Amino acid sequence: MNIAVRYFTRGGKTKKVADAIAKAIGTEAQDCIAPLTEPVDLLFLGGAVYWGGIDKGLKQFIEQLDPAKTKCVAVFGTSAIKKEPDRDIEKLIQNKGIPVLNHSFHCRGEFSGAHKGHPDSNDLEQAAAFARTALKAMK
Ligand SMILES: Cc1cc2nc3c(=O)[nH]c(=O)nc-3n(C[C@H](O)[C@H](O)[C@H](O)COP(=O)(O)O)c2cc1C
Repeated sequence: MNIAVRYFTRGGKTKKVADAIAKAIGTEAQDCIAPLTEPVDLLFLGGAVYWGGIDKGLKQFIEQLDPAKTKCVAVFGTSAIKKEPDRDIEKLIQNKGIPVLNHSFHCRGEFSGAHKGHPDSNDLEQAAAFARTALKAMK
């Protein structure tokens, strides 16, 4: 099975989650500035919330995804307040006609003194568990 992990980050917190996901499934996470170079069965894609929305860099990455070469996407995200940033990402992917896995992962990311230390080691363990579950769901 061909698997890829891509993320958008400004401050490194979503990258931490992406790295935990990638490690759990034996691959490497890459910034979404790197387009997919080959078809994937499962793409883990993550981002964060900035002033209520996701960054245009992540939107651009989703826009250039080829539905014929992207079988399924599992979404993850970090945020300080917004409960489900992953939903915004999922909607954009579904609008492209690409299936989104039922399982998604979200945790808090430190911002302006709130949620200090997050994502923490417990968040990262949960992210790894999410990755393993998502992978199983595909098999
Ligand atoms: C400029 C800026 C704006 C933010 N706006 C929001 C927001 O509107 N809602 C929210 O829940 N979190 C907001 N956050 C918190 C981030 O979503 C959170 O810290 C996230 O983990 C950052 O991920 P990153 O380090 O991968 O960029 C904001 C953070 C920054 C830096």
